[in-house]
Amino acid sequence: MALDIIIGAQWGDEGKGRMVDLLAKDATIVARFSGGDNAGHTVTVGETVFKLHLIPSGIVHPHTVGVLGNGTVINPETLLGEMDKLKDMGISVTPKRLKISPAAHLITPAHRALDAAEEAQRGDEQIGTTLRGIGPAYMDKTARRGLRIGEMLDEESLADRVKEHVAFANKKLTSLYNAEPLDAQAVAAQFVGYARKLKPYIADTSRMIYQALKDGKRVLAEGAQGTLLDLDHGTYPFVTSSNPTAPGALIGLGVGPTYVGEIVGVTKAFQTRVGEGELPTELDGDLALRLRGTGSNPWDEYGTTTGRPRRVGWLDLVLLRYTARLNGLTKLALTKLDILTGIDPLMICTAYKKDGEMFQEMPMGMLTLEGFEPVFEELPGWTEDVQGARTWDDLSLNAQGYIRFIEEQVGVPVGWASVGAEREQMVVI
Ligand code: IMP
Repeated sequence: MALDIIIGAQWGDEGKGRMVDLLAKDATIVARFSGGDNAGHTVTVGETVFKLHLIPSGIVHPHTVGVLGNGTVINPETLLGEMDKLKDMGISVTPKRLKISPAAHLITPAHRALDAAEEAQRGDEQIGTTLRGIGPAYMDKTARRGLRIGEMLDEESLADRVKEHVAFANKKLTSLYNAEPLDAQAVAAQFVGYARKLKPYIADTSRMIYQALKDGKRVLAEGAQGTLLDLDHGTYPFVTSSNPTAPGALIGLGVGPTYVGEIVGVTKAFQTRVGEGELPTELDGDLALRLRGTGSNPWDEYGTTTGRPRRVGWLDLVLLRYTARLNGLTKLALTKLDILTGIDPLMICTAYKKDGEMFQEMPMGMLTLEGFEPVFEELPGWTEDVQGARTWDDLSLNAQGYIRFIEEQVGVPVGWASVGAEREQMVVI
């Protein structure tokens, strides 16, 4: 069988968790390949809402094994906290159910302190990071001084390495940012404690995935964040510090391209973005409130990780064409179609305009979105409740028309449309 990759086709928060939940039914392994606890994946099973940040969403299926691949960055405190929470909810994350690559990098309190200090120093130019220490951890990785999970296998040298790491970070914190230094000894002791708990989870995940694929099993790569937050291909500098795109899954898991099967791009039926940076189709006022929700429901547009209200806008097909091409998407999954019910007409961005010239795709990739004006087409809305729809024929003509329009414009078929937060509220097309 194949490695199927689930990718965020926007700026994150597309509903990847629920798609992974759906597709994990016949997968053996569900693997995170990039990012860390900056992600927030929500899975609703009956009355229970699972909010996961680090552990792959597939964990809610007892038959799957979760993997945190070499491309991820792991804060052991969050990971252990998440394990405890899941345990309270009846899911025991034993070393049989979760495997961590020794090459994944560690996030420490020093990384978090640096993230906060760097953001504060940026003043008006803030990126709006999740303050989880993601950027500084990847900076240490590329500077080749990062701490890796595999170092937890030797407690003594781990303690020394953590002390060195904190001492180095303290220099930056105090001299560059005028921030408080951390207690290196205390952090080292903390990490030795984490190592004792996490050691049994460390495994050669790349080989494990290879073997599963060789044995004809299905492996799901669970994307975090989204294509437009990709370090190389996103809206730099308002991006994350990893590659949450399909090729990133191969690097971040240590799997060759031969095994790739479906590449599913998950997109909401409208646009959202947290943090700073351009959002060409941004809405405000009543319509924005309508799309965002008030925050009273777990699926309203408020960050799972930070609680920040998300910015919202009309669906942007210029960006979706770009993400389809970049990831080589074979299918689209459209989420939150039900939120559009009752909005008439629906606007959808099909091109950008700048200095009198029209663009179907950005002329220089995502170099800058500044100054590009969205060009909209108007589509008729629908008033029929779609939440009970399960098949194509259950959808009203105008809801079908909205989906077909997206397929034609982007050139990728829509395989699913979610029509509510519950697991079964899904139209399979
Ligand atoms: P960082 O990943 O915490 O460094 O944040 C960099 C940018 O990515 C900020 O704009 C964040 O809001 C955004 N970001 C990071 N993770 C997510 C996510 O899971 N969903 C949506 N936005 C995210």
